[in-house]
Amino acid sequence: MKRAGASSAPGGPWKKLRTARAARVRSALFELPPGAVPRNDAARRFWSERTWSEFAAVPAVAQVVLALVREGAPLDTLGAYTAIADDEVRHALLSRELAQKLGGYLDEIPEGLAYAPRGLATPSDVPAHVWAMANGCFSETVSLALIRARHARTKHPVVRAVLAETLKDEAVHVRVAWEVAEGLLPTLDSVTRTELRGYGADLAEMLRRTFGTQGLPPALQRGERRLRDRTAEAGLGALSAAEENEVVDAALAEIDERLRPLLE
Ligand SMILES: [Fe+2]
Ligand SMILES: [Fe+2]
Repeated sequence: MKRAGASSAPGGPWKKLRTARAARVRSALFELPPGAVPRNDAARRFWSERTWSEFAAVPAVAQVVLALVREGAPLDTLGAYTAIADDEVRHALLSRELAQKLGGYLDEIPEGLAYAPRGLATPSDVPAHVWAMANGCFSETVSLALIRARHARTKHPVVRAVLAETLKDEAVHVRVAWEVAEGLLPTLDSVTRTELRGYGADLAEMLRRTFGTQGLPPALQRGERRLRDRTAEAGLGALSAAEENEVVDAALAEIDERLRPLLE
């Protein structure tokens, strides 16, 4: 398939993306707003996990950027993704600062949890459409749904500020991801589209374990559920484990519906 190079005018599967980067960077939150934060062991663990999740998005987005360059995407598409990488770093920093204030950020990812920032940084020749689908359509959409639900429920001003900031950015990430997917996926051959449908089912299971707590080994699952339930009880940025799983399932159903016409 012939694709435009970065220096030529956008064409082929590449849509012109609106990034509005300058305006976003000016209004971006780089540090926690002032205000007391209670010490809470579950919440500091929850926000440490949020940090790992945001951190893992950085190499994932970097992989999208590399794949886009390999495949000749125009500069404005690259710019949209480098801006996303920038946002994910900021989300990780804000989450880590919040975990720190809640009693101390934890650096160690427990055995069995699938956050893999370093693993995702391994050089890869996976094509852009796979990254766009996994990282974009799936992770960003589920992430936005969860952050939106947590924001609607959280009153603590400092925690709410972090959620509001993340929510604003994730909405942009979701838009960019789907615009790229809508350009790329329908141009693929039918064998690849069939493979991607199967891959989508695997991704859904993986996201139920990482964004939600479904499908984890029993002992780990109990701990992860407790962590969300206690953070929710304290009003520090989570919903209960059952509610979070419902949000994840609803988002996955929405993704499935939205992807179907692109992969038919
Ligand atoms: Fe993020
Ligand atoms: Fe994101």
